[in-house]
Amino acid sequence: MTTPQMIAGSIQEAANYIRSQTDLKPEIGLILGSGLGILANLIENAVSIAYEDIPHFPTSTVEGHEGELLLGTVQGRPVVMMKGRFHMYEGYGPQVTAFPVRVMKALGVSGLLVTNAAGGVNTSFNPGDLMLLSDHLNLTAKSPLIGPNDDTLGVRFPDMSEAYSRRLREVAKTAAGKQGFTFKEGVYAGLLGPSYETPSEIRMLRTLGADAVGMSTVSETIVARHAGIEVLGISCITNMAAGILDQPLSHSEVMETAELVKEKFLDLVLEIIPNM
Ligand code: 6GU
Repeated sequence: MTTPQMIAGSIQEAANYIRSQTDLKPEIGLILGSGLGILANLIENAVSIAYEDIPHFPTSTVEGHEGELLLGTVQGRPVVMMKGRFHMYEGYGPQVTAFPVRVMKALGVSGLLVTNAAGGVNTSFNPGDLMLLSDHLNLTAKSPLIGPNDDTLGVRFPDMSEAYSRRLREVAKTAAGKQGFTFKEGVYAGLLGPSYETPSEIRMLRTLGADAVGMSTVSETIVARHAGIEVLGISCITNMAAGILDQPLSHSEVMETAELVKEKFLDLVLEIIPNM
């Protein structure tokens, strides 16, 4: 079993290594979803650290994701950005997928922007829409907080009644207004994957109140809330979920839509970060 002491030690070793590579003290963390790694171009004076060089960091395996931590500034604000994230479908446990968030906390992060590519479950959505997460459904049947609690990291039973910060959602809406578009807003269902859902599963998710579906984010948000980090979540609706349109789903469609939306996304993030 992994004990709290082992986890705390690993977090500190990872954070110490990162601090040995840069003096920058990040305030904001960014986790980029499939095809949105382009946001890395926003970082000024970036120091890049390969995941494989960071003690206890896993290494990511999926096409379209890269394994690199970037520290630098965006609009003058110090940030740490994960280019490429860890998913449970890669075989990692939920503690592992959320480990980088704990390292971010150790580095001083107080606000986290998580982005993902997601399928549209709400039939009023269209590919290319951006959705603010108002909440999530953790349908992974896992929690990154399973096991003995380390009280220095957070409380045993963290409150999740405002998983995605109301304040940060308002910041994001104001930014979108300046950019001349309106966000969709809704509930993200996080599933294990890696197969996409069946049409019946999508109907079930809609009945449960989901607006979008994906394979990431929930474990990261749970750990962030446990650590007292404010979270802003944005889904890029890259495709409609199964059974809505009469066409099969593919990862290439996900990547293509993310590519089409990237400029809009970049402008938005530039506008949001200073106000996070
Ligand atoms: Cl339709 N489902 C899941 N689980 N993840 C996705 C998706 C669908 N589209 C993009 N990512």
